[in-house]
Amino acid sequence: MSNLYQIAIDGPAAAGKSTVAKLTAKRLGAFYVNTGEMYRTIAWASLKEGIDVVNAPEKVEAALKRWTMTFQNDGKGEIDIIFNGHPVVKAELRTAEVAMASSNVAKIPAVRTWMLQKQRDCRLLGTIIMEGRDICTVVLPDATAKFFITATPEERARRRFAQSGEIAPGATIQSVAAEIAERDRQDENRPIAPLKPSPDATVIFTDGMTPEQVTDKVIAVFKEKAQL
Ligand code: DC
Repeated sequence: MSNLYQIAIDGPAAAGKSTVAKLTAKRLGAFYVNTGEMYRTIAWASLKEGIDVVNAPEKVEAALKRWTMTFQNDGKGEIDIIFNGHPVVKAELRTAEVAMASSNVAKIPAVRTWMLQKQRDCRLLGTIIMEGRDICTVVLPDATAKFFITATPEERARRRFAQSGEIAPGATIQSVAAEIAERDRQDENRPIAPLKPSPDATVIFTDGMTPEQVTDKVIAVFKEKAQL
């Protein structure tokens, strides 16, 4: 591909966006950009500094003035997040505590403003597959192809439960479903950049589909839009 393209993918937690975005990026030789990890980094740093992200959002806002976040090509088709000069250890972002705190920091207007241009600048990396909650609607409104990838809450809870890492000790499939539902509620109802399908996005309902089938669909729609 000689031109640069952007593929934007939104959808609720544990819908399989990352798996599909990674597969798509690999097949197209493009960059995979996960914006959830950027919000998770702010949550992780806030927790580390003992900031109460729910009751003291002003402390998160104040910290943004001294924090820095940049992105670096990791040489493997993804990006490293460099936070305050150090690469973020992505495994540390994959805890139930960080997941819930990330949904809370994502409600803070100053956090979203701080993030927006940094995310848009990822276009300079090359052709990108960017996933999140507001990529089609806010971050990349002119993306070449836009998708909303979703699945039933039961299927998403099953998928999340099957992954190691993000599950708190003693969690059950019911508690995982409740945590996902609470994050969806927050992400869909915040006043700024809420999670919602962009009217021009292709909605893919993935229950009963394999990641490869979803990726085939994403690539087919992208090629049609890009006239490749
Ligand atoms: O995709 P994820 O589960 O890693 O995202 C973590 C949280 O970050 C999610 O609950 C809401 C927030 N988020 C957001 O508000 N906007 C994005 N573009 C990506 C994530």
